[in-house]
Amino acid sequence: MASFDAPLGSSTVPHVTGELPGPRSAELLARQELRESNARSYPRHLPFAIADAAGSFIRDLDGNVFIDFLAGAGALSLGHNHPELVAKVTEQLGVLTHGLDVPTPAKDAFTHAQLAMLPASMRRRMKIQFCDPSGANAVDAALKLCQTATGRAEVVSFQGAFHGASHAATALTGHVTQPSAAPRVHFFPFSSCGRCPLALAPGTCEINCVSVLERALANPHSGVPLPAAVIMELVQGEGGVIPARGEFARRVRRLTRELGIPLVVDEVQTGCGRTGTWFAFEQYDIEPDVIVASKALSGIGQPVVIVIYDQRLDTWRPAAPAGTFQGNQLAFIAGAESVRIVCRDNILGNVRARGEQVAGRLTELTDHPGVSEVRGRGLMWGIELTPPPGGRPVGELAEEIQARALHNGLIVARGGRDGGVLRLLPPLNVTEQVMDIALDILIEAIRTRTTAHALAA
Ligand SMILES: Cc1ncc(COP(=O)(O)O)c(C=O)c1O
Repeated sequence: MASFDAPLGSSTVPHVTGELPGPRSAELLARQELRESNARSYPRHLPFAIADAAGSFIRDLDGNVFIDFLAGAGALSLGHNHPELVAKVTEQLGVLTHGLDVPTPAKDAFTHAQLAMLPASMRRRMKIQFCDPSGANAVDAALKLCQTATGRAEVVSFQGAFHGASHAATALTGHVTQPSAAPRVHFFPFSSCGRCPLALAPGTCEINCVSVLERALANPHSGVPLPAAVIMELVQGEGGVIPARGEFARRVRRLTRELGIPLVVDEVQTGCGRTGTWFAFEQYDIEPDVIVASKALSGIGQPVVIVIYDQRLDTWRPAAPAGTFQGNQLAFIAGAESVRIVCRDNILGNVRARGEQVAGRLTELTDHPGVSEVRGRGLMWGIELTPPPGGRPVGELAEEIQARALHNGLIVARGGRDGGVLRLLPPLNVTEQVMDIALDILIEAIRTRTTAHALAA
């Protein structure tokens, strides 16, 4: 397999000197704070300004080099600036960049590639809709489609879900504190067994929590009308990397099929190989009616967003979900090339192998008192921290670990309940060697900070 992990100078290891942010980064961060909205997010915990990047590495303006296990929040599936994608995008720049929703060779190749990646049994009956460029737009479009097709208004979502930050997508998101104007969402328990939503003691689960949904939809007095859609993530990402249990997902599928409710799977984060199959639903032995995908579709961070759905739902009037930015030719050409590279280089095989590597290395944390659970699929991992003794918030501990890892050259994300889950979203072509270095840094940071908290208590 091709490797792109040694492009910044001659180094294949991260290196950070001095305090973060360094002086040149600090200057840009200060200007950003003056001029940009309070809504800015990542630089609050990752205090640097980016100079350049390649493969699994980012270099800041002060010359510090980090392993990037946030990878554009999962958008950079083939790492930063994959040379073959850069070549395709550069060539396309001189041909056409914006094409509305008019067909072009780049769009045709992209559409062909995406449909070809579906399980064979789904290829013929699914259609693609292009959306404006954010995952939340696609979630909105998928729900509107299901509402139009069913003539129903309500939607079922799951506790802990994250579906984006538009009004409708926020309303579906189980752990967002901001109020939303979009109404009529019913939340049901998700199979997050580490923190059972039904408060059952470990090992005593006789009913899978999906039965709460089954009973509510069967009971005319439950206050939950037949919904236009049930939407779920197969692995809740922002919710703290919580894979759905197999039985849970299959029973949601069975129920929705029996009741004629379109099942929407949100593969914005799990899609494009992140969990070891092209889509995560393939590992659950289910076929959804609607798939929402975005983040990693172009492989190089160029925005492109699609809803793939069963053609019997295709009740849109022409231009119903119109938008200006649905024809990003750079993303199309990169996306088609990205699929070619994923197949040629057996990237899904690498995801599974590196996933096993992570699982193997992180077993040394399972008995660690500072860690309550390690969970993941493919290259999507979460380490849930135990709230530290003495009543200190778990989010604070996670922030300290994130900061220590960064000072030692590793960028990781956080999420989950109270921000207490450390999250890994590396590029899917990360090498074994880089993965080992990253895990050394992470494990050291977790051990050091959790021990410091325990001693201070
Ligand atoms: C599962 C899921 N759905 C939707 C979204 C929203 O995507 P975007 O930020 O592009 O709107 C995200 C973003 O992280 C996500 O993880």
